[in-house]
Amino acid sequence: MSKTITLQEFIMDTQAEFPFVSGQLTRLLTDIGVAAKIVNHQVNRAGLAGILGEAGSQNSHDEAQQKLDVFADRTFMRILTAGKSVAGIGSEEQDQYVFCGDDGKSGKYIVMIDPLDGSSNVDVNVSIGTIFSIYRRVTPMGETLSDQDFLQAGTEQVVAGYVLYGSSTMLVYTTGSGVNGFTLDPAVGEFFLSHPKMQFPETGSIYSINDALLGQANEATQQFITGCREAIDNGFKARYIGSLVSDFHRNLIKGGIYLYPSTKDHPQGKLRLLYECAPLAFIALQAGGSAEDDHGSILEKVPSSLHERSPFYVGNIHLIQALRSCWMNNG
Ligand code: AHG
Ligand code: MN
Ligand code: MN
Repeated sequence: MSKTITLQEFIMDTQAEFPFVSGQLTRLLTDIGVAAKIVNHQVNRAGLAGILGEAGSQNSHDEAQQKLDVFADRTFMRILTAGKSVAGIGSEEQDQYVFCGDDGKSGKYIVMIDPLDGSSNVDVNVSIGTIFSIYRRVTPMGETLSDQDFLQAGTEQVVAGYVLYGSSTMLVYTTGSGVNGFTLDPAVGEFFLSHPKMQFPETGSIYSINDALLGQANEATQQFITGCREAIDNGFKARYIGSLVSDFHRNLIKGGIYLYPSTKDHPQGKLRLLYECAPLAFIALQAGGSAEDDHGSILEKVPSSLHERSPFYVGNIHLIQALRSCWMNNG
């Protein structure tokens, strides 16, 4: 029997791949694994009294926060702040950047996080996730952090990953040398390497979009989806969970495209660039896929605010190219 590799062993074994290696990034990745296990435990108990439902508060997007949104946010904040390697955090659930420790003057890294993605699915026992992204600080150590530390293009990401709280719990991440997936064994509380070197399959035939948006969506998306529907004989099928992490993960394994388009009323779509689109774009590229907005690469977009939104199309390269042809056809 081949030896099983734990997340911790894998992080240690591959740390030499990081440019400018230091123990801080290793520690940070380990901390994310620990926070994920704590959130996972609470997610698994979600049907029990006092954990389900709305928290009675709203986040910076005026969305009702679920109790689990608040719990996941607090858990990641507490653990990342305590670890000393993080200078600042941008979270979906916090209006402003959070400075860690010593007013953000120490700590090499900036973390962007969607602590609980798909939280409207919590009450109905459907898969949800966490999305995270790690950047190097730009301002020198010892100085107060500024906008430029938080508003970096996706090309500057050092690590991106997600946790999927599904029928099993997985942690998937990239440091820029491929994508690796780990499955939590709940009996021993360890993540084990289960999906080494994840790649989109050569072809994909799943399309994932909120169908109710289609009439309002840009012309290219409408034309592309019409094409998918007409390709039913080629095995095309629609699949949409409504949890970005789950939809992305399925398409990564089975092959497909996820679309959250620009619409007439929402020209920037719904999803958030820094802690939803950019990390999944980095993972997609590392897995042989592609990610774009209405105009081109997601990773090259330089954000102008923490909670900026972006249209998002991600998946197999040939499907993104087919969508791009629809953009050409529609000027
Ligand atoms: P969050 O729960 O972090 O606010 O994210 C919800 C997002 C994403 O997970 C999902 O793909 C999308 O919202 C679904 O939106 P629609 O309900 O408009 O399809
Ligand atoms: Mn989300
Ligand atoms: Mn969320």
